[in-house]
Amino acid sequence: MITNRSAILVIIIGSFSIGWVACAPGNQNQGENSVKFQQYFVEGEVLYKQHCANCHQTDGAGLGRVYPPLNKSDFMHENLNEVICLIKKGKQGEILVNGVMYNQPMAGIPSLTDLEVAEITTYIYNSWSHQQGLVDVSVATSVLKECMD
Ligand code: HEC
Repeated sequence: MITNRSAILVIIIGSFSIGWVACAPGNQNQGENSVKFQQYFVEGEVLYKQHCANCHQTDGAGLGRVYPPLNKSDFMHENLNEVICLIKKGKQGEILVNGVMYNQPMAGIPSLTDLEVAEITTYIYNSWSHQQGLVDVSVATSVLKECMD
């Protein structure tokens, strides 16, 4: 009787281990991605509040005809690479956002690292109306290489 119970216990523990090993690789990958996403998002929010919210507002609504909105911005939706660049380089000249023309220079922040640009981009592209997912630092680096020289 006792040996039977031990045998059953061994089988149960054994199948848990097999199940765990079988699931582990997939879960680990997903886990890593979502931990990375969370880190980017949290850092990005801090940076956004520090560098961007003055003008674009905490809720991304912008300010009248002076500062364009980020929430629901069709410009953001269509121009990821340009947005990555303008964070660091700034932008001037006419810009059409959701059918409204804006024309005020925005100063860039050249001192930001590629990682900080990726974090801010991840934050604004996953806040309010946006659900783009992670914008990796490798993407920011290759885009910035093109526009910063
Ligand atoms: C001093 C005010 C100011 C600050 C600070 C500022 N912006 Fe802007 N931003 C503007 C203005 C003005 C424009 C429109 C530029 C133009 O007319 O060409 C703009 C344009 C944009 C656009 C493209 C238009 C749109 O609404 O989709 C994005 C995206 C953007 N800014 C993101 C940011 C981010 C991210 C930060 C922080 C790193 C930031 N801005 C900081 C004023 C500001």
